[in-house]
Amino acid sequence: MPTLEIDGREVTVENGTNLIQAAEKLGTEIPHYCYHPGLAVAGNCRMCLVEIEKMPKLQIACNTRASDGMVVKTKSEKVLKARQSVLEFLLINHPIDCPICDQAGECKLQDYYMDHDRQDSRVPVEAKVHKGKAIDIGPMIMLDQERCILCTRCTRFLDEVTKTGELGIFQRGDHSQIGLFPGVALDNPYSGNVADICPVGALTNKDFRFRARVWYLERTPSICPGCATGCNIDIHHRRGEMFRFRPRHNPDVNSYWMCDEGRLTYKRYQGEGRLLQPVRRVESDWQPIPWNDTTAEVRGLLAGDSRLAAIVSAQATNEEIHLLAKVLGERGGRIAGHAWSPAGASRDDFLIDGDKNPNTAGLRAQGIDPAAARAVVDAALAGELSALVLFRTDLSQICSEEEIDQLGQRLERVVSFDTHFTRSGEISDLIVPIASFAETGGTFTNRAGRVQRLAQALAPVGQSRPGWEVLGEFLSEPASATSAAEVFAELSNFSSVFSGMRMTDIGERGRALAAEQPSVAE
Ligand code: SF4
Ligand code: SF4
Ligand code: FES
Repeated sequence: MPTLEIDGREVTVENGTNLIQAAEKLGTEIPHYCYHPGLAVAGNCRMCLVEIEKMPKLQIACNTRASDGMVVKTKSEKVLKARQSVLEFLLINHPIDCPICDQAGECKLQDYYMDHDRQDSRVPVEAKVHKGKAIDIGPMIMLDQERCILCTRCTRFLDEVTKTGELGIFQRGDHSQIGLFPGVALDNPYSGNVADICPVGALTNKDFRFRARVWYLERTPSICPGCATGCNIDIHHRRGEMFRFRPRHNPDVNSYWMCDEGRLTYKRYQGEGRLLQPVRRVESDWQPIPWNDTTAEVRGLLAGDSRLAAIVSAQATNEEIHLLAKVLGERGGRIAGHAWSPAGASRDDFLIDGDKNPNTAGLRAQGIDPAAARAVVDAALAGELSALVLFRTDLSQICSEEEIDQLGQRLERVVSFDTHFTRSGEISDLIVPIASFAETGGTFTNRAGRVQRLAQALAPVGQSRPGWEVLGEFLSEPASATSAAEVFAELSNFSSVFSGMRMTDIGERGRALAAEQPSVAE
């Protein structure tokens, strides 16, 4: 573990740490473009030059390992002059189209220019080398060649991470430009990541382009609901609307990346189809009802005989599953899990899991079989049940159209809790609108048994409410929990698998469940 001095302060780091990381440990940023901690070092942008005692020339921090006794200066006159020169060089042919550039506000050229350069260009705009603009290079990404600083982050990502190698650098000198290899498009399941790692506005995300200026957006840490991997994300949102998901670094789950399919899952949860208020069925029509009446009516519907069952999908949070199991347990009802994925669902050996549910492992950990929904449907069809609760569950994923109609006839009482109106709603007596994963606090357990936190990013739409809050009202002693964290604390007291965990110490990287889990058939 070498100890070195950076700008007069001592720091001890792991063997193999480079100077950018060592400085970061002290809270000092060494400006850089081409270096990315998830990629091999390229050392081509020269922005990270620092002065090292006993070395005659400035050295690049990204490719210099910290060693014992090293004395490094990151802010000396020599370093600042070099930085200014590098920036001037990088900007010689840059179009400076910040006012119309989607990267403005999160562009490292803008940031470093303001911090380290601030000089007028010695090259008039007319004399600049012009290259291609707004080139459609794949389903997710637009390329602006003029803005590219040739840092090769994108090509390294495509060579090292996806190993698809669609992009390369072509031509020579100041005509060098990033481009597609002939006959290919940037079309791989992780292509959106290149826009995240491009330090300038050369690669931008088509879905996000021109929809919002980034300085208006808020960020909330969350978990992608797209599959069982549970990639860590930040939700970028404003005034109740989600604008994009960005991967959040978690070395134990997704490193710095996420897939394109997951990146677009935010669209499911906003806009069309969201349930905005509780409704009751009156003959063939729906009648809105106030929340007070809803709670009383649901209690009434659950109060009949004990031939009661619930199906809870693996889209539900751990807290919702726990409370629903408790509600059913108090009434002698049975509970089954439901983890649905479409036929031919995408999967690979990297991040994408064929199980398109974020919390199948959470069901199992609470002793609920995620494949038992069909058995409950069969029992209902056989007339063994009188009432059914459907929690985030669309019956059309479990049975045929005819069977759904038969269920509607055979069951005396059906209550549906969901974010959207689905086929389940059509046979329900009451539909209770609940918050989406982005509108409620809670946890999911990923495929590796890692419990991860969802922070609430948005207020629930319309009159919908967090599932944990609504379910707490149906317990014999209505729950006193005022937050998902309190429900989680109760779960961890109740379950040996979650034992000892508290929401606060799960932290940003999640925590692995205790190894011993209730045995439930796969
Ligand atoms: S497109 Fe972006 S990531 Fe790729 S080389 Fe250019 S600046 Fe770097
Ligand atoms: S791999 Fe799964 S969890 Fe990760 S981003 Fe894609 S869909 Fe979301
Ligand atoms: S970050 Fe070190 S040379 Fe680019």
